[in-house]
Amino acid sequence: TKIALFASGSGSNVQAIIDSVEQSELNAEIELVVCDRPQAYVNKRAADAGIEVFSFEAKSFSGKDQYEKLILEKLTEKKVEWMILAGYMRLIGPVLLTAYENRIVNIHPSLLPAFPGKDAVGQAIDYGVKIMGVTVHFVDEGMDTGPIIAQQAFPVNGQVDRDMIQKQIHQIEHDLYPATLQSLFK
Ligand code: GRF
Repeated sequence: TKIALFASGSGSNVQAIIDSVEQSELNAEIELVVCDRPQAYVNKRAADAGIEVFSFEAKSFSGKDQYEKLILEKLTEKKVEWMILAGYMRLIGPVLLTAYENRIVNIHPSLLPAFPGKDAVGQAIDYGVKIMGVTVHFVDEGMDTGPIIAQQAFPVNGQVDRDMIQKQIHQIEHDLYPATLQSLFK
């Protein structure tokens, strides 16, 4: 299965996917990493793994359609079948949604539909929830909406330590995402 990974930040989830492909736990070929922040650490991770990166800055384009058309050209050229979002901080627009209907997946650090959008972990902590978790879901035009594929929850006990919780979230993500993708691609 040919996939493209979309990211904007550190890319620890991208790394987890790269590692599971290398360990043959995930049967996929990572054809491209798409990144909207040329300075993001994920660019280095991709380069180190020898994966081609398409890096762009939205502000150099007149709108979403324009840069998504360019992304679509790259995806088509590389025969990419699935778009895998991993910390990609932009809504997917009609150009890519139409081309990849039901073939776009995202991971979000909350038990959706609770706490969509930015800083989901902070939102959940501020709300004082006692169960937190991670969601993998299909992407539609909304912000962290779309049918849920997998969720994993964990209890929050006692004193809330933001860094510890963030660590726990990442640990869950790094197992849950590759495993969920593997079950999708089978
Ligand atoms: C993850 O927590 C993911 O759920 C969210 O963005 C974060 C990306 O982290 N969508 P990283 O760049 O993969 O480390």
